[in-house]
Amino acid sequence: MPTRPYVLISCAMSVDGRIDDTGPDRLLLSGPADLARVDELRASCDAIVVGASTIRRDDPRLLVRDPELRVRRLATARPEHPLRVTLTGTGDLDPAARFFAAPAGARRPLVYCARPSVAVATARLGTLADVIDAGAPASVRFMLADLAVKGCDRVLVEGGATLLREVLTGGLADELRLAVAPFFVGEEGAPRFALPGRYPAGPANPMTLAEVSRLDGVVALRYLLGPGGPDTRFLRAAIELARQCPPSDTAFAVGAIVVSAAGDIMATGFSREQQPQDHAEEVALRKLDPADPRLATATLYSSLVPCGARASRPVTCVQHILAAGLPRVVFAWDEPPIFTEGGGADQLRAAGITVVELPELAGAAAGVNAHLTGPAPRPRR
Ligand SMILES: NC(=O)c1ccc[n+]([C@@H]2O[C@H](COP(=O)([O-])OP(=O)(O)OC[C@H]3O[C@@H](n4cnc5c(N)ncnc54)[C@H](OP(=O)(O)O)[C@@H]3O)[C@@H](O)[C@H]2O)c1
Ligand SMILES: [Zn+2]
Repeated sequence: MPTRPYVLISCAMSVDGRIDDTGPDRLLLSGPADLARVDELRASCDAIVVGASTIRRDDPRLLVRDPELRVRRLATARPEHPLRVTLTGTGDLDPAARFFAAPAGARRPLVYCARPSVAVATARLGTLADVIDAGAPASVRFMLADLAVKGCDRVLVEGGATLLREVLTGGLADELRLAVAPFFVGEEGAPRFALPGRYPAGPANPMTLAEVSRLDGVVALRYLLGPGGPDTRFLRAAIELARQCPPSDTAFAVGAIVVSAAGDIMATGFSREQQPQDHAEEVALRKLDPADPRLATATLYSSLVPCGARASRPVTCVQHILAAGLPRVVFAWDEPPIFTEGGGADQLRAAGITVVELPELAGAAAGVNAHLTGPAPRPRR
């Protein structure tokens, strides 16, 4: 049982590191393209968490805006919106806040509350939300562990500054999505992104920069955090991707990421992403130009060992990898040989590919497939 979900942080800041100004209205730090990116990120998560001050100050809805993304969630057997979650010490939240509204498709929000305030918060908010005793003092760690127990595998933390500091200094984040707006706030008292603290990702242990994109004038940065170096982090991101697979009772859920030697994510894929028979690795490779010179030095990360035998299509993922000219493969889970002939890792090695197995992540990769690894039904690749 995981002790916490995969935790993503999303934050937008000005170039001088401010996440709001001191004015009465919420400062808009993103353009339409970046807002769409955040909406997609929300749609990929099971829960969205904000600190109580953000509810008081910004009055966010915390819903998925794009109807198409909501339809896609429903099609993959997920609720229309992620669960809305907040953490409070005082329980001082307005029942009229939009966080507590109950539009169609939204579930009752969760309020994790410090023990001394639970009774007050329940009296005020109990008809609108589930108020949960989060200890004395309340702890983010407890909240995340409880969300995992409640089936939230992927949680998005959207701020504000106090909550982000707790998550980041506690080593509780796996990804940081940071948008940098092309202007200065320049005000002394404006809330800043990273409040002072002891951050595990200090100069001796930097984060792994995985993506840089330009959305209108905003720069969107994606950093991977967590234990280990780039191989471990990219592989965990691939395992995480497997959660996006359309469900199947007869095939594994796998995630794959192709990363250039310079550290850029070139393409991602997950099982059944484009067609029902798709394997993650072939989807990722299909998205790339075969003439892309970066392929000759890139690494493919796959949550499951690439298939060396396959019932669903004639070309195996091993053959796709060899055809693409990739020199290196990193995987987590060696497919149980009872399901297919397997042998993918040996075939790759025999063809001169460097193959790295990180068995410490096998449990996480298999965990995404827990419904298949029992005695029946027997999955096919
Ligand atoms: N640019 C962005 O991406 C972005 C995103 C979100 C927010 N923001 C900005 O961030 C600012 C708000 O940030 P903030 O630092 O003031 O507040 P915050 O992090 O949103 O909320 C802090 C509050 O959360 C509760 N809390 C946090 N950790 C807790 C713990 N361990 N135990 C119990 N309660 C805990 C407390 O609530 P109580 O006070 O109720 O006890 C605390 O005062 C706003 O200006 C907002 O606009 C910006
Ligand atoms: Zn395959």
